Amino acid sequence: MLSKQILPVLVAAAGLATAATTTTSSSACKQTTFTINSQADITDLLSCTTLTGDVVIGNQTDTTLDFTGIDVIDGDLSLLNNNLVSTLKSSSTTKITGAFHLQNLTTLSTLAFTELTSVGSINWVSLTAIDVLTFTAGIKTASSIVVSDTFLSNLDGLDVVSAETININNNRRLVSYTSSLGNLTDLLNINANGLNLEVSFPELTWIANMTISNVSSFSVPALQIVNGSMRFDSNFFTSFNAPNLTSTSSGDISFVSNAELTNITMPLLTSIGGGFLIANNTAQDKVNGFGKLKTVGGAINMRGNFTDIELPSLNDVKGAFDIVSTGDISASCATFKKLAPSSQGGNGDIQGKYTCESNNAEANSDTNPTSTATSSSSSSTSTSSNDNAAAGISVNFMAVLGLAGVAAIAQML
Ligand SMILES: *[C@@H]1O[C@H](CO)[C@@H](O)[C@H](O)[C@H]1NC(C)=O
Ligand SMILES: *[C@@H]1O[C@H](CO)[C@@H](O)[C@H](O)[C@H]1NC(C)=O
Ligand SMILES: *[C@@H]1O[C@H](CO)[C@@H](O)[C@H](O)[C@H]1NC(C)=O
Ligand SMILES: *[C@@H]1O[C@H](CO)[C@@H](O)[C@H](O)[C@H]1NC(C)=O
Ligand SMILES: *[C@@H]1O[C@H](CO)[C@@H](O)[C@H](O)[C@H]1NC(C)=O
Ligand SMILES: *[C@@H]1O[C@H](CO)[C@@H](O)[C@H](O)[C@H]1NC(C)=O
Ligand SMILES: *[C@@H]1O[C@H](CO)[C@@H](O)[C@H](O)[C@H]1NC(C)=O
Ligand SMILES: *[C@@H]1O[C@H](CO)[C@@H](O)[C@H](O)[C@H]1NC(C)=O
Ligand SMILES: *[C@@H]1O[C@H](CO)[C@@H](O)[C@H](O)[C@H]1NC(C)=O
Ligand SMILES: *[C@@H]1O[C@H](CO)[C@@H](O)[C@H](O)[C@H]1NC(C)=O
Repeated sequence: MLSKQILPVLVAAAGLATAATTTTSSSACKQTTFTINSQADITDLLSCTTLTGDVVIGNQTDTTLDFTGIDVIDGDLSLLNNNLVSTLKSSSTTKITGAFHLQNLTTLSTLAFTELTSVGSINWVSLTAIDVLTFTAGIKTASSIVVSDTFLSNLDGLDVVSAETININNNRRLVSYTSSLGNLTDLLNINANGLNLEVSFPELTWIANMTISNVSSFSVPALQIVNGSMRFDSNFFTSFNAPNLTSTSSGDISFVSNAELTNITMPLLTSIGGGFLIANNTAQDKVNGFGKLKTVGGAINMRGNFTDIELPSLNDVKGAFDIVSTGDISASCATFKKLAPSSQGGNGDIQGKYTCESNNAEANSDTNPTSTATSSSSSSTSTSSNDNAAAGISVNFMAVLGLAGVAAIAQML
């Protein structure tokens, strides 16, 4: 389907590119597609400081391609399915307005754009030979960043202050990601990277959704608002602290299967727009870091080896309240029972069904307790870790399939 949509575009592109070679030098700087198959092809364009159109690097023979002399690419820069280029660089390009798309490159080991600060979007997938980025000035602007299946050990030089999407996955050597991101309007996804990945967003104050898995530390000291969901699955940290977080507007807060987690603290959090899920963090025996939490728009579900659960300010739960522990939480249950619906003998602060159970050895086996959670307003805790994993895989798979289609069509031309 994708191939059929792209075919006419590629045909048009080929036609225009051919026409352009016979026109004057100024219009030579503006083409639908600039096809680069050698350094000589770049040299031929050096009268243009700005290339207006998409730059597509073909299956050329030169191992080094240097775009120095081209200051702006007003279009995409793509290098796909290539096993020859080892160095791609420029010491003058400051801006690429479209996508900077690198995919399925087994020999690219040096990526050096020392002056580049602004890119429309970054999409780097399956770059198996690259271990370091040389972006000296640093990319400050990019609406979307996808870095998947690379050999990178850090992402230094990708330093946007604001973005729509950041998706960092399957970079098996990645151990450090520090960013001065201030806000993010769609989704931050970090999963399946190096087993010792330390993530730090010292300036992040506002974010929509985030799903974080398999990280060893995650630091968000300035985070104030999550305008979506915040989900932590299978991480390796022992504690998580969001000292400045005050609310999530519509989404959930979830911590599931974080084996070493003992301490979650959000001292200023007053309201969760969606559900609140804590499950199978087997080292966690206390939930006591939510001293100001008053309102939960969905359900509260907790499963674990708890002995003590404290939510001293809680007075408004729109969904169910459902807590099950392997240990004895009868003292905590006695406190929460007062908030149960009037039909269950409480004051009605909890509007959904109230359940609180001690000494259930199977507590940790239910990490997706939606059956009791979806009483009234929220079905939002239903996103299981399996759903997330499946979605991540299908996105990558579609990207690869789509590109295989483009490559196949390109070869037909
Ligand atoms: C990756 O690129 C190589 C050429 O370098 C090609 O043979 C192979 O089919 C490509 N793989 C995919 C999944 O597109
Ligand atoms: C996000 O950050 C940018 C740049 O700092 C700023 O202009 C914008 O207002 C911020 N948006 C939100 C919703 O905070
Ligand atoms: C956050 O995720 C939820 C659930 O997937 C989705 O409905 C919502 O649109 C997302 N918010 C943003 C700002 O992307
Ligand atoms: C990484 O996280 C996923 C959940 O998102 C989990 O299924 C997987 O087991 C984790 N991998 C490791 C090595 O912890
Ligand atoms: C926490 O928020 C307050 C304002 O609400 C701000 O003054 C303070 O600097 C923030 N802390 C951090 C670490 O950003
Ligand atoms: C926050 O999310 C809600 C929907 O969940 C949306 O209506 C609202 O515009 C978002 N706020 C901002 C500042 O984007
Ligand atoms: C939990 O973490 C908070 C914030 O980092 C810290 O102040 C507190 O002492 C920790 N509690 C325990 C029991 O480790
Ligand atoms: C959690 O509880 C289960 C069931 O009682 C037990 O088998 C397991 O060892 C406990 N885990 C920890 C880390 O305490
Ligand atoms: C609970 O977490 C452990 C890792 O600590 C994992 O092996 C197990 O599969 C999880 N249980 C469920 C039901 O997800
Ligand atoms: C380069 O691609 C063209 C079609 O785009 C194809 O005919 C040619 O065989 C390829 N050359 C190499 C060395 O892969």
